[in-house]
Amino acid sequence: MLIQTNLPHCTLRSWKMEDKAALIYNANNRHIWRNLTDVFPHPYTEADAEFWITFANNAAPSIHLAIALDGIAVGGIGIIAGEGITRHTGKFGYWLCETHWDKGIATAAARSMAAHVFSGSLFERLEAQVLAWNPSSMRVLEKVGS
Ligand SMILES: CC(C)(COP(=O)(O)OP(=O)(O)OC[C@H]1O[C@@H](n2cnc3c(N)ncnc32)[C@H](O)[C@@H]1OP(=O)(O)O)[C@@H](O)C(=O)NCCC(=O)NCCS
Repeated sequence: MLIQTNLPHCTLRSWKMEDKAALIYNANNRHIWRNLTDVFPHPYTEADAEFWITFANNAAPSIHLAIALDGIAVGGIGIIAGEGITRHTGKFGYWLCETHWDKGIATAAARSMAAHVFSGSLFERLEAQVLAWNPSSMRVLEKVGS
């Protein structure tokens, strides 16, 4: 899967095993980990990266993609499908390498992901839970929802 965002150098694409080193390098960061759910490990090991890349490509109807800048994986974005009566609700999540924060990248990624899934028939609603100390993520969601 490949989704072009409104930033020319930024795409969303399927994870590849070749992303392993970049994934470990970018994800092994407590400032990212402390804002995510328990499925995101710390420290982020080689085994964690191998598990994630395999899992991400076999998670349908959930969608997990790499955020890539000029082809290099610098973050992740995903929508976890609900079950039963919440099957049309997706839980939105995303993270980005800290050196690229505050450049509008997560907003571009989240906007494109939302547009992509709302153009299909499965997801009718997206929701996200944000920790109280994370105004940056709240702002991303505000911008995507407006
Ligand atoms: C949350 C995260 C993905 C944001 O990525 P990003 O690419 O920096 O986000 P953007 O640049 O698109 O937008 C960030 C917005 O937050 C604002 N912001 C940043 N720090 C802020 C602060 N302390 N208080 C208020 N707003 C803040 C920025 O100014 C920007 O808003 P603006 O465009 O109106 O100026 C990134 O910080 C991250 O990976 N954090 C760790 C993981 C995480 O929190 N994931 C989300 C879990 S819910």
